[in-house]
Amino acid sequence: MQNKLFEWNEENIGWFETSSKYSKFHENLASLISPILDNNSTVIDVGAGLGRLDQYIRDHCRQMILVEPNKYAFNYLVETKKENQILFNMTFEEYLELNREPCDYLLLSFFSRMEIEDNLERLSSLCKKKIIYVRNENHDSNDTLIKYLNDRGAEFKHFHREIDFSQPLKKDDVEKFIETYYGFKSKSTKQKMRECIIDRGDHCIYKNNKQISIFIIEKI
Ligand SMILES: C[S@@+](CC[C@H](N)C(=O)[O-])C[C@H]1O[C@@H](n2cnc3c(N)ncnc32)[C@H](O)[C@@H]1O
Repeated sequence: MQNKLFEWNEENIGWFETSSKYSKFHENLASLISPILDNNSTVIDVGAGLGRLDQYIRDHCRQMILVEPNKYAFNYLVETKKENQILFNMTFEEYLELNREPCDYLLLSFFSRMEIEDNLERLSSLCKKKIIYVRNENHDSNDTLIKYLNDRGAEFKHFHREIDFSQPLKKDDVEKFIETYYGFKSKSTKQKMRECIIDRGDHCIYKNNKQISIFIIEKI
């Protein structure tokens, strides 16, 4: 079965928020990104999701623009909005049509659409300085992103880190969680995932040491 495009709904928003707060994943991720920024800069986060990363990034820049088309995620952004954030409930393609002034930095966190077609050039037009791109680490020696960036003559650096993104779950939600995120995977992968579930009596923890890569790409 094909890997489905990720879609927010009320249930996975709850899981994501719980995990982000419990593991401090976004707080820890932000601490790797904020040294790249300067306090007077502007940042645009495309595909902001719940803006959990932006909650911490916003203290290290002057203004943030958050672009998110999904209505459930956008409602969450509205509820948690801070004074130096501006929200747009649309796709980045629609945002480009607005012809707004580019920000200093473009933040793309787990926004894999950057790697397809000529999205890099279109997305790059949204910033003046650098693109900060966070994704899962690719253990394949033939890394298609590096080839994609090299083919477009992009200047970039990248580094890898492991950050805890463990997920507390109600016992009754464990199988639903596995099906939601791993339903399309093989039986053996799902079994490996089950082996990462720790029973804590009244609840479970899905232990997830997430391997990530951060790319810092000069504006092209
Ligand atoms: C995997 S999620 C990442 C969310 C968030 N950046 C994070 O790291 O938690 C990808 C996000 O991109 C949004 N998205 C999908 N297509 C988009 C598009 N064309 N333009 C902007 N955002 C899009 C989705 O709704 C989703 O919130």
